[in-house]
Amino acid sequence: MSIKSRSLFKSYGDLVAVNGIDLDIGSGKIFGFLGPNGAGKSTTIKLLTTLVPPSRGSIEILGIDAIKNPLDVRKRIGVVLQQPSYEPNLSVEKSLEKYGMMWDVDKKTRKQRTDELIDVFDLGEIRKKKNEDLSIGQRRRVQVAREFMHEMDLLFMDEPTVGLDPSARRNLLDYLKDKAKAGLTIFYTTHVLTEAEYLCDEIAVINKGKILAVDTPDQLKSTFGQEKTIKIHLANKYDDLIGLLLGISGCRIEFDTGTNIIIQSSKAEIVLSQVLSILIENNILIEDLSAMPTTLEEIFLRMVKDTNAPNN
Ligand SMILES: Nc1ncnc2c1ncn2[C@@H]1O[C@H](COP(=O)(O)OP(=O)(O)OP(=O)(O)O)[C@@H](O)[C@H]1O
Ligand SMILES: [Mg+2]
Repeated sequence: MSIKSRSLFKSYGDLVAVNGIDLDIGSGKIFGFLGPNGAGKSTTIKLLTTLVPPSRGSIEILGIDAIKNPLDVRKRIGVVLQQPSYEPNLSVEKSLEKYGMMWDVDKKTRKQRTDELIDVFDLGEIRKKKNEDLSIGQRRRVQVAREFMHEMDLLFMDEPTVGLDPSARRNLLDYLKDKAKAGLTIFYTTHVLTEAEYLCDEIAVINKGKILAVDTPDQLKSTFGQEKTIKIHLANKYDDLIGLLLGISGCRIEFDTGTNIIIQSSKAEIVLSQVLSILIENNILIEDLSAMPTTLEEIFLRMVKDTNAPNN
């Protein structure tokens, strides 16, 4: 197990930023931590990387007790934090070089890796430019690239693609996939669902410091994503209809004004045909009908909305 946490809590005064998080993340996996602004993603990364102490709970990183032995953990991990970090006067290649020195990488390897990363992260044209003269996306690319100057068993990345253009983004995601294939474990936060879906072996959805669901992207989709929402608008109100429709199994049915029926089901086609035959048998006229797949995006938004509801 690369990351294991139990009942992890972090409060800032009255605010509970991380509210009881349990994690079990295996080696060589890319684990996505997906949640909206303020969900607790960065705080979780800071806890797991020993940058801030938890209020409560246990953390084991690469088998090491991270609360007792933070320095042993830090030697073996890489971290790309959310906030920009750079030395304004240093050139791109010098930044990489210096980062390698900080990690005690020998001169020859430093040179090799600098050239390799400049190539991978498409920094060739700006390699002599000072950090302060770079665009935001270029600076972010340097910040991400330099983390690969050193060896590590586990890498934490806090929204590394923010500010990257689509090709730089795809480039980074594919590079991370290759690294994971070679054995690196990656803990990756984002609020972009499609990115998590493309990259991650497992995704945890987090809101208000709590994990709402953890699963593979495929499993999340088949649990929730095959659901469809069918909306039927009737020409008139039919009082007996509710009783007839409630006999149909495998779906959630809602009536609002009496002429609108909303049906959510993962077997929408079967349910729809049953509903239609009941309507036809009873000579009930349909004015409008639509069926929409419930997307992962909608599921994510619904989960977040549900936990934001006032009674939560
Ligand atoms: N040092 C701090 N002091 C006080 N409150 C904090 C501190 N750090 C984070 N918080 C609060 O904890 C909550 C979680 O913040 P966190 O930065 O972990 O969210 P996030 O999921 O990373 O959000 P974003 O997507 O915006 O980066 C927020 O309500 C934030 O205001
Ligand atoms: Mg954050």
